[in-house]
Amino acid sequence: MSDTPREPCLRLPAAAAPTNAGGDIFGGWIMAQMDIAGSIPAVRRARGRVVTAAVEAMHFRRPVQRGDMVSLYAEVLTEGRSSMTVAVEVCVERNPYEPEILTVADGRLVYVAVDADGKPRPLPGA
Ligand SMILES: CC(C)(COP(=O)(O)OP(=O)(O)OC[C@H]1O[C@@H](n2cnc3c(N)ncnc32)[C@H](O)[C@@H]1OP(=O)(O)O)[C@@H](O)C(=O)NCCC(=O)NCCS
Repeated sequence: MSDTPREPCLRLPAAAAPTNAGGDIFGGWIMAQMDIAGSIPAVRRARGRVVTAAVEAMHFRRPVQRGDMVSLYAEVLTEGRSSMTVAVEVCVERNPYEPEILTVADGRLVYVAVDADGKPRPLPGA
């Protein structure tokens, strides 16, 4: 990821998210948000429908807690003929009175541009 200021693709509170037995936010919920966030630059680049083909990497760095404000950043890293590898980073603000940004997870997902029949189609300009 670059050092230039970034806008999150998604920003949402982890207020009503499901929790695991330890009381932290369930990892599957975080993964779902990462998939949604990653699809945003992919759809933009593909100018249309994409499907998630693979999760190449997924790292949970710190637990997410109820009440955290979750921001997800995503950008296309590389592209092929119809596929795009997207880096997704998940950060939280834990205390709104003393904002500290913590990276809680990151991953790399592959999206494929598809046509109306769900078949791979070339990226525009590829
Ligand atoms: C992803 C999918 C469209 C690929 O179809 P396919 O007929 O196997 O396509 P191809 O083998 O021709 O590959 C097309 C592109 O996808 C890439 N790709 C396919 N599977 C991949 C995988 N597991 N990991 C990384 N890239 C993959 C290929 O490398 C190729 O990239 P390129 O065009 O940039 O060179 C198909 O497997 C599919 O529909 N999967 C289900 C998707 C889904 O339901 N996701 C969950 C909900 S969105």
